[in-house]
Amino acid sequence: MGCRIAGCGKALPQLAVTNDDLAQLVDTSDEWIVERTGIHRRHIAIGETATDLAAAACTDALARADLAPADIDLLICMTISPDSVVPSQASLIRARIGLDNAIAFDLNAACTGCIYGMEVASTMIEASMLSQGVASPLAHRRNPLRRALVVGAERLSRITDWSDRATCVLFGDGAGAVVLEWSEEAPGILASFLKNTDDDTLCLTCDQSFDMSTFPFAEGAACESVGAVMGIQAVDKEGNPAGIAPHLPFIRMQGQRVFKFATAAIVEAAREVCERAGVSLDEVSCIVPHQANDRIIRYAAKKLGVPYERWQVSIGEVGNTSASSVLMALSDAYAAGRIQAGDKVMLVGFGGGLTSGALLFVA
Ligand code: COA
Repeated sequence: MGCRIAGCGKALPQLAVTNDDLAQLVDTSDEWIVERTGIHRRHIAIGETATDLAAAACTDALARADLAPADIDLLICMTISPDSVVPSQASLIRARIGLDNAIAFDLNAACTGCIYGMEVASTMIEASMLSQGVASPLAHRRNPLRRALVVGAERLSRITDWSDRATCVLFGDGAGAVVLEWSEEAPGILASFLKNTDDDTLCLTCDQSFDMSTFPFAEGAACESVGAVMGIQAVDKEGNPAGIAPHLPFIRMQGQRVFKFATAAIVEAAREVCERAGVSLDEVSCIVPHQANDRIIRYAAKKLGVPYERWQVSIGEVGNTSASSVLMALSDAYAAGRIQAGDKVMLVGFGGGLTSGALLFVA
């Protein structure tokens, strides 16, 4: 028994922006972007909201699972770029697609959001289902949860600094969704591995700096930025102060530091989840990694000794879509027929926080 993946879906904004389009905006080139990242284009939401994209991805996943909105008991939305904070992004999606029986909330684990979201949803379902039996001493203590929609929804274009060539070429918008369903027969999710590492050089941030000069009762108070809160300062690749401009709610990144973290984190998470499941890497038919940089995927493939052909690589068409990335890529893997019933599949991610993790399931 366990939580199985019953269906998967994705949605992209209409507008595709090429590397050449970006070269009109900042000092960059198609050659540089492709060589350093593997990205050819990304989609940018102009007419679409995060709610539009998430609703489309969820509807797609429900159709593939042959389920109706009323069948869903739980909705978790992972995002760092919601349409609103209150109501939560999940509440907006719930209302939009009529998930009348679902509880709904948001979760922020940045680009590892999908792994964290699926882990939270599956453990909530498991705890609920195991407590539902009449004989259980825990009977009726929890909401009855049998099926969940787990959706990543990002409009990173809204938190991208379009004058910063080091970041604006990397990110894109989109949504990916999965339906998790309790099954008495299927093994479903075999194991998970989640990890947080302090970002003690602030190598990946999206600050919500608060200008205290506009705050009542706070004369002379300093601006509250993430650096001030943590008592640390962001540094560049040489270790010098990076000088992040306050009050700008944009993604800021020290690429090389993140690259170093990402390559170590992806390898660790892949190994750990296999060990927990008692499964060898050779038995895993398809690995679906966070789509941040093709070079990170190639590094991990080499280090782990898993042929590149067994990795789902979608980044070329969509860029880095943070919490949506792994579920969008999983949807691509299913659509391409790369995952068959009974296959062992690994999802693996890393991102801001710093967070990292992996999840292994039987399709
Ligand atoms: N076009 C052209 N040149 C660019 C550029 C762009 N879009 N962005 C940066 N450059 C320049 C830099 O200014 C630097 O120039 P300099 O040598 O004169 O200082 C040069 O290219 C090399 O920059 P660097 O940052 O060292 O490049 P890199 O090989 O590390 O590649 C990343 C940059 C961002 C692609 C890479 O570091 C990366 O992918 N990091 C991890 C990102 C990630 O995973 N983020 C998401 C985590 S969830």
